[in-house]
Amino acid sequence: MTATGEDQTDRSADVPAEIAETADFVVVANRLPVDKETLPDGTVRWKRSPGGLVTALEPILRSRTGAWVGWSGVPDSADNPVVDGLQLVSVPLSAQEINEYYEGFSNATLWPLYHDVLVKPEYHREWWNAYVEVNRRFAEAASEIASHGAMVWIQDYQLQLVPKMLRMLRPDLRIGFFLHIPFPPVELFMQLPWRTEIVEGLLGADLIGFHLPGGAQNFLYLARRLAGQATSKGTVGVRAKFGVVQVGFRHVRVGAFPISIDSGALDAISKSKKIRDRAAELRRELGNPRTIMLGVDRLDYTKGIDVRLKALSELLAEGRVDPRETVMIQLATPSRERVDSYIRMRAGIEQLVGNINGTHGEVAHQVVQYLHRPVDRDELIAFFVAADVMLVTPLRDGMNLVAKEYVACRSDLGGALVLSEFTGAAAELRSAYQANPYDLDGVKDAIVSAVSQTPDEGRRRMRALRRQVLAHDVSRWAQSFLDTLATVNETTTSENRGIDLVGEDGDPREDD
Ligand code: ADP
Ligand code: F6P
Repeated sequence: MTATGEDQTDRSADVPAEIAETADFVVVANRLPVDKETLPDGTVRWKRSPGGLVTALEPILRSRTGAWVGWSGVPDSADNPVVDGLQLVSVPLSAQEINEYYEGFSNATLWPLYHDVLVKPEYHREWWNAYVEVNRRFAEAASEIASHGAMVWIQDYQLQLVPKMLRMLRPDLRIGFFLHIPFPPVELFMQLPWRTEIVEGLLGADLIGFHLPGGAQNFLYLARRLAGQATSKGTVGVRAKFGVVQVGFRHVRVGAFPISIDSGALDAISKSKKIRDRAAELRRELGNPRTIMLGVDRLDYTKGIDVRLKALSELLAEGRVDPRETVMIQLATPSRERVDSYIRMRAGIEQLVGNINGTHGEVAHQVVQYLHRPVDRDELIAFFVAADVMLVTPLRDGMNLVAKEYVACRSDLGGALVLSEFTGAAAELRSAYQANPYDLDGVKDAIVSAVSQTPDEGRRRMRALRRQVLAHDVSRWAQSFLDTLATVNETTTSENRGIDLVGEDGDPREDD
């Protein structure tokens, strides 16, 4: 499997009767890197799972031997295939668990709570119970596959109880946890009826990583406030200082590790003749417009797809963007399609697309081209190469890898990136045309500046962006996290607890 190759296609998969060995390095994530699909004729194929977590971790697993524990994306599947040499360990989920743990607690409680309550989080005790039960099963599966003293890296908000559960099962393990989405402000987190359990669950890890120092700070404050409270078993001694929480005799290190992409691989592929030719062909297929704008997202309300469509709609109405010379392509991967807020959001987006095309399009020329499906990785790279203006306008996003992918694909120093201030990437990509997505006039001005930049200005900005993205790639991110995890017991003694909140590679800034 490659992050940059034919990702939507079949994988060669062997399904051993049972898992043969234990592993020294184990990734535990809600999803396996591939989803199981059963075709009408009964044959099974595995295709790449959606989302940035897989994009980031898949090249890491390719460069190490290890196992990946996760869910196959369908109900009741217990297959443990070896896909392209990687040992996958399935945690089967029933249809009810998918509904309560995944669609419910993970994506209708935690997801909106951690993303600025963009929709109202729902708090249901039965969802919480399912979350506890499924986290327990993930911990058991990790415990079975991990060899003695192994390094286990638990991922994301769906599995925040696993660190503590796994530590209780296997105290010999070195346990890391990384959160791929924003960690919320204290005032919002405090809404959660199970806030203490979540904080204590995370504190089972040796190292807890966030994208940004702000998330780490919020967590340190909450650890002190919640996990140190008196319980029926007496007071749990928790002291949080700088980047370390002391839990009884254990030290848990907390830091910022901004995630990235396999930028070198994307850079290389985007330079190939095949991709260049396809990019040129795409422009011809679109009628050779002067400006191609591009959005690439999971169809999620956090991504601000509506923001960019409204901005475009107003710019067209005001005559600041010419509909005859402009095409906006919106690639939207289906996501969480049974969750109410996603159903509503999709209808709203499709209505906006219809309005723009109905008002400003011609029979032979649609201003907005909208594809509600994932595209093949090479095709996506060709879209990045073809796009004059990349629109990344989330209302909140932990990092946003799409912004970095676009930059990595622009070795020609062409193109312009319009980037929301409320993405993690904004801390690093300061030469983008940044805008506040809640300020529609600001977004419109950023788009107009990007469309009308001079070639010199565009090259200057893209050069600075590329320096950042190529130097801070995903292997540096993983190395930084895993090196810290490997030394956590040695470095977090009581003598030298005053370490920086920011991980070794934390908070990098563009050096333009
Ligand atoms: P998230 O993790 O919230 O989905 P990111 O921007 O961090 O957001 O990562 C999304 C990943 O999914 C990127 O690697 C991106 O290229 C990929 N992706 C998003 N939309 C599509 C699409 N329509 N087709 C193919 N890949 C997509
Ligand atoms: O980082 C956000 C995240 O939830 C990841 O855990 C996952 O890779 C991605 O979004 C896709 O979401 P889902 O697994 O719900 O389709």
